[in-house]
Amino acid sequence: MLTRLGCRVLMFNQKMWLFLFMTSQCSSIYHHERGFSSMSAEEGSSGNVKKQSTLSHGGLATASPLVGLPEFSHLGWGHWFTLRDLEMATNRFSSENIIGEGGYGIVYRGRLINGTEVAVKKLLNNLGQAEKEFRVEVEAIGHVRHKHLVRLLGYCVEGVHRLLVYEYVNNGNLEQWLHGNMHQYGTLTWEARMKVILGTAKALAYLHEAIEPKVIHRDIKSSNILIDDEFNAKVSDFGLAKLLDSGESHITTRVMGTFGYVAPEYANSGLLNEKSDIYSFGVLLLEAVTGRDPVDYARPANEVNLVEWLKTMVGTRRAEEVVDSSLEVKPPLRALKRTLLVALRCIDPDADKRPKMSQVVRMLEADEYPFREDRRKRKSGTASMEIETVKDISGPSDAEKMVISESHVEEG
Ligand SMILES: Nc1ncnc2c1ncn2[C@@H]1O[C@H](COP(=O)(O)OP(=O)(O)O)[C@@H](O)[C@H]1O
Ligand SMILES: [Mg+2]
Repeated sequence: MLTRLGCRVLMFNQKMWLFLFMTSQCSSIYHHERGFSSMSAEEGSSGNVKKQSTLSHGGLATASPLVGLPEFSHLGWGHWFTLRDLEMATNRFSSENIIGEGGYGIVYRGRLINGTEVAVKKLLNNLGQAEKEFRVEVEAIGHVRHKHLVRLLGYCVEGVHRLLVYEYVNNGNLEQWLHGNMHQYGTLTWEARMKVILGTAKALAYLHEAIEPKVIHRDIKSSNILIDDEFNAKVSDFGLAKLLDSGESHITTRVMGTFGYVAPEYANSGLLNEKSDIYSFGVLLLEAVTGRDPVDYARPANEVNLVEWLKTMVGTRRAEEVVDSSLEVKPPLRALKRTLLVALRCIDPDADKRPKMSQVVRMLEADEYPFREDRRKRKSGTASMEIETVKDISGPSDAEKMVISESHVEEG
């Protein structure tokens, strides 16, 4: 959650670049404010307009954000910062630099001496955690790199202080775009939402399936999906739950995960594996489709819980009605149903039936390239993709069957 002050700081900083970028991002958002240029450009193009800040150390986009920092503090993968370095970067942790505050501590915006913009996460005092143990865990996170993961640039351990230094991601997070203060700049289009979702899915597939030891995120939620200026997802806080869970600290007893996103088996028994990330991802996907919070007490009783409401809607053949009403251009019905089907599979109460993240990526990509899929279908003359995707698990739930049979009607 952003503090009110944090919100204001964020809004001010982001307004500046938003003016720069509005013209190149027309295809990703519908503007709420009039008066912006309606010139359009291709979504995701590298763009001619580059924000000055992150490149101000004089390098190309590919240059290391750590270039120019003292050599003796270089780690293999990142940088060891002193508290003084980070005080300087954040104007002595000034309240004006606060971006927001979450369950793990306060996040400050900062600028290193080489000009690189950073987000400094000052972790809640965790007195019990041994320095060595902390470093082992941080090193593990530091080595994990992916286009759709926020990069950890380094850390600081001094006395009781524990700080993490991340690359600064400058376009808010998915929660702010869907429900918060970024909403004032426009509504994310369906395509932009799916781009963010697909990026998130790829990041999770990487964490779960491509690296050893695998990393379970444990706190997938929309505020942890940061967004860059090309509307790419950058997943943040991976590995953090484990980092803070290790060691004999008071934080050990804290409930991990965020209400509304937590898989039933994790909530009930603390049983945790990558399938609980997949459940949270399913909720995130539903949030992106519907524009609704996972839990929203402002709604009528039968709509408070997004997952329950969604299942009822699909079960009563009202899938078309669940799409976010603020989307000016609605997604094609086929795409909507396919996306809902993916989400329903991810939130299967039976953890074993949930797909792997790599399967989710494939299913979502099939939606991104429908022509390829259509061609395949025409060639083989087989039934719909919806049926195909369901075949590779042990059988659809009632709600899923409903989506499938509806699609059948639509196509038949
Ligand atoms: N690397 C980053 N770049 C830009 N903003 C960030 C970064 N990391 C976190 N933030 C922002 O800081 C705020 C607080 O983050 P956090 O402490 O992780 O809390 P939460 O995830 O619960 O919202 C959020 O608004 C988040 O978007
Ligand atoms: Mg976070």
